[in-house]
This record gives sequence, C-alpha cells and structure tokens, in this order.
Amino acid sequence: MQCTQEQLDEGARILKRSRSLAVSTGAGISKESGIPTFRDAQTGLWANYNPQELATPQGFSGNPKLVWEWYVERRRMISDVSPNPGHYALVDLEKEFDEFTLITQNIDNLHRKAGSKNIVELHGNILRFKCFDREHPIEQLPDDDRIPPRCHCGSMIRPDVVWFGEILPADAVMKAGRALETCETLLVVGTSGVVYPAAAFPAQAKACGARVIEVNTEISAITPLVDVYLQGPAGEVLPKLVETFRAL
Ligand code: APR
Repeated sequence: MQCTQEQLDEGARILKRSRSLAVSTGAGISKESGIPTFRDAQTGLWANYNPQELATPQGFSGNPKLVWEWYVERRRMISDVSPNPGHYALVDLEKEFDEFTLITQNIDNLHRKAGSKNIVELHGNILRFKCFDREHPIEQLPDDDRIPPRCHCGSMIRPDVVWFGEILPADAVMKAGRALETCETLLVVGTSGVVYPAAAFPAQAKACGARVIEVNTEISAITPLVDVYLQGPAGEVLPKLVETFRAL
C-alpha cells in the first residue's frame, strides 16, 4: 500500500503552516540503504550470540574481545552503505524551517553522511568511542594492537552507543524534549513506536499542540495517534512529500 496524493497534500499543508519542525527517525529510514538491523546482522559467526552478550555493559565486561569484534564488523557493514533519498529529503526539509531538530534512534551515522545539521542521536553513534569506566570521549583510537583498545586512563574503550539497560545521554534527551515542546509539527519516520522514550514523542508533541505526520510501510504503535499517516517506504514517500510541500 502506498499513500495517495491527497494524503501527501494534507501532510504538505501541515508542514507549510509550521515554522518549527521536529523529526523522529528509526531503523525504517535506513532500510532502503540496506542497513541490517541488530538482529539481521546476527548471521553466520554471530548467529549463536544473544543481544545480552553483544549489547550490554555486562556482556562487554564478560567478553570484551567478542563484543569489540562484533562492533568492528557492524562498523564495516555500515561504512559501505550510503544514505538514501529519504535521508536526503530530510536534508532538504531542514532548509525550509526556522527551527528544525532531527531526533534519531539510529546509530548508523547516515543522517550526518547525508548532510543533516541539527541532529540529536538518542542512542549514540557507532563511529564514535568512549571510555568504558569513566565515559571520556575518545577522539582517536590508540595506534596499537590491543583488543579492545585502552583509554589513557587504563580503562577499555567501547563504542559510544546506548546498550540495553543503559540510560540515554542526558544532553540528547534534553535537546529532544525541547524540540518536542516547541515544534509545531512532528514528522515520525520508520519507527515501530515501541522503544521508549522515542515511542512517547508523538504523544508528548501532541500534548504541546503539535500536529503529527507519520511515514511508515506498516501501521505502527503510534499510527492511531497521528494526524496524517503516509504509508510507504521513506525513500519514496519523503521525496514526494518535499516536492508537494515546495509546490504549495
Ligand atoms: N520506510 C519506512 N518505514 C519502514 C521501512 C521503510 N522503507 N522499512 C521498515 N519500516 C518501518 C517498520 O514498519 C517498523 O515500524 O520501520 C520500523 C522499524 O522498526 P524497528 O526495527 O523496531 O526499529 P526502531 O523503531 O528504530 O527500533 C528502536 O530498538 O532495537 C532497538 O535500539 C534499537 O534504535 C533501536 C530501537
């Protein structure tokens, strides 16, 4: 199923009436770039490991070499892929609003690669690193063969992503909260709407008076809440939405 031109017109009219836009994205926007989800990536050598072993602080403490190598592999997969027309449509939209915040649950860096500017990465970024014990940001990995590499303080270095059971980065949560309170429209793209806090963004924005537009190939947990539901792949629907918006 694909949304109709009338639905796109309705979405575009809502955008046209807004000066501030917040966008919330999930794994669906990167689907057409070919990014495997966490589970999709657990094939071959990795098929026998569960997320508790690969994406928790306890898993990392228990088997740091295994977890480090899993993330090396995921980074390799991600570095080979490019943003798709959905990511680029959001770059175009950013230029049309006085205030624009793109909040993503994705760690794949594709919004940055596409050229979006005001990005809030709720779950971190797989291309960044931090100190495991004290959370120092790590600008550059040391040039030696230790696996995992070590921070200047002696701690292990880990990927700067949010693992299961961890709290989200406070500055990202604060920036997201501000954007949701002040936006006139929230555009939600490719998220199942079941993982918090992002799952609550539509209700939060609506409570502050915003209209909500959703782009998703399937009905999601948030669809009943939204003002306009645009069904279809983000890589097709978002460029059409931008085109319709520009034609108004
Ligand atoms: N275009 C738009 N939406 C799509 C597309 C597409 N091409 N392909 C899939 N979708 C939708 C699916 O219908 C689904 O609703 O994207 C959503 C993807 O859902 P999830 O895989 O659950 O991703 P997400 O909601 O981002 O997961 C949230 O959970 O696994 C953890 O931390 C991880 O950040 C992730 C979080």
